[in-house]
Amino acid sequence: MALIEFEHVFKHYPGSPSAAVDDLNLHIQAGEFLTLLGPSGSGKTTTLMLLAGFEAPSAGAIRLDGASIESLPPHQRNMGVVFQSYSLFPHMMVAENVAFPLSVRKVAASVIAEKVNAALTKVHLENLTHRKPHQLSGGQQQRVALARALVFEPRLVLMDEPLSALDKKLREEMQLEIRRLHRELGVTMVFVTHDQSEAMTLSDRVAVFNQGRIEQLASPKELYDAPANPFVANFLGDNNMLDCTLDEGLPTGATSGTGRVRTAAGQSVQSRICTTQILPKNCTVKLCVRPEFLQVASDPAALATPNCLKATLLDLIHQGDHWRLVARLEGVVPSGKEAPQWFAKISPGTLPPGLMVGQNLCLGFRPEDAWVF
Ligand SMILES: Nc1ncnc2c1ncn2[C@@H]1O[C@H](COP(=O)(O)OP(=O)(O)OP(=O)(O)O)[C@@H](O)[C@H]1O
Ligand SMILES: [Mg+2]
Repeated sequence: MALIEFEHVFKHYPGSPSAAVDDLNLHIQAGEFLTLLGPSGSGKTTTLMLLAGFEAPSAGAIRLDGASIESLPPHQRNMGVVFQSYSLFPHMMVAENVAFPLSVRKVAASVIAEKVNAALTKVHLENLTHRKPHQLSGGQQQRVALARALVFEPRLVLMDEPLSALDKKLREEMQLEIRRLHRELGVTMVFVTHDQSEAMTLSDRVAVFNQGRIEQLASPKELYDAPANPFVANFLGDNNMLDCTLDEGLPTGATSGTGRVRTAAGQSVQSRICTTQILPKNCTVKLCVRPEFLQVASDPAALATPNCLKATLLDLIHQGDHWRLVARLEGVVPSGKEAPQWFAKISPGTLPPGLMVGQNLCLGFRPEDAWVF
């Protein structure tokens, strides 16, 4: 049985035309690190608030260990919570802040001292117990918040963008800290972010939110390698996309394999097709290729694949460890707009010599590195 179950949960805020959470079905397994990832307004915080008990669902059921928790107030749910703003008590010292959840639970003073010490040691703050929050850096304050969420040994820790106020370097350090704590404590963590790289660093599984619904729930690798739809493909990592016509779909009954599509410029390429929908011949599909899977050559014969899209080189940018190449595809897309720009990420060793902005080139990709929706 899952630790937490959301079954057909809806949340309508009064006066809002659409549901903030729209028929959410989600099972959270004990011990996992689950991240809710999605654009602003997609319902991540609302989902966390429903779980923590600060908001009530408009419809549907939320269960903990199979038992309904809708009537339980937040403090009886045994969940530690860390928010984006540190929300520490400014007049209390670090140790007092961390002790707070235990004091309200009427734990004996001697036990409190011991547990506060242990929690602060876990987040490497045992030497700063007598400081006030304003005497700490952002990262240290966030660690205090984390210690406070962990100190009463909750079964679940909920974190809503806890690192978004920190600079990049500190954020990456804290991500590793949180990973370590999750591993060491075995506690179930539900983490909210709109930063895809943070989600990929931390999570066992990621739920990709869009307009109050989950578009896909899977491991970071699966989301990246096999996104269920264009939204997920675009939200996790960069993706080049092009509307094409399906020339050759999958055999009847198959759910994955290789097919053939034609661009508006009449170029025919092979691509992976992963879909449970039946795609009729000549329907419009989206061809997707990630920038790191594109090969570049002046001449199609130099590509290590027969798949080639003709393009014009618009820009070539040195990014340190790789070149970012910007090209406009040949021809027009079916809607009559200009053909899209595609991006390629090319490692310095494989960049063809003598490329000039404005020249024609070929963008190649292996059929197994492309897919259509
Ligand atoms: N208290 C509220 N009253 C009315 N509408 C709300 C309230 N809180 C959130 N909403 C609306 O519900 C939707 C989901 O909001 P939510 O805060 O869950 O999004 P989010 O994914 O956390 O976004 P962000 O990344 O910006 O934090 C939004 O359209 C938002 O405007
Ligand atoms: Mg939010």
